[in-house]
Amino acid sequence: MASFTRMDESTAEQWATIGAETFAHQERVADHVLEMLRALAGITDGFNVDQLTHSLQTATLAERAGASDEMVVASLCHDVGKYVSVPNHPAIAAEMLRPYVDDDVYWVIRVHQDFQGRHYYHHFGGDPDARDQYRDHPAHALAEQFADEWDQRAFDPDYDTLPLEHFEERLRELFAAPKSL
Ligand SMILES: [Fe+2]
Repeated sequence: MASFTRMDESTAEQWATIGAETFAHQERVADHVLEMLRALAGITDGFNVDQLTHSLQTATLAERAGASDEMVVASLCHDVGKYVSVPNHPAIAAEMLRPYVDDDVYWVIRVHQDFQGRHYYHHFGGDPDARDQYRDHPAHALAEQFADEWDQRAFDPDYDTLPLEHFEERLRELFAAPKSL
């Protein structure tokens, strides 16, 4: 059955086919996220480690601190937006994760730069207490743990960082199952 050439002529049957096809190809989401993560190996921009190493190290620290699988995968993906654009990278990464994680995990990634700012915003004349605007958020403590104990510490080339393969199965499981549309 040929599909439509314009949406205002579409039928429910055609949409059922599109829905089934999209679902059948869900695996490509994880493939593409993994491709983006691998591409972070090519971005260093003056840091001591490339962005893939930083991402892996953030996830390694999260895992070793006993974080949930969702939070470990989110930690791995938190800077993946840098593949596209650094200034808005938290929003890009957070929206990529959003259908697949709990609201709190989404939120931690969405605001992570303002929490991270505690450790470097003063170099730019920014407000190191930018995180305080979120003081009443239920995931505030998790965002602090993420920024203070994992993300801001994950620039050490000598740390025993786990490889991407270590996280791949959990990443594939997470991106295989959207919780919302
Ligand atoms: Fe980071």
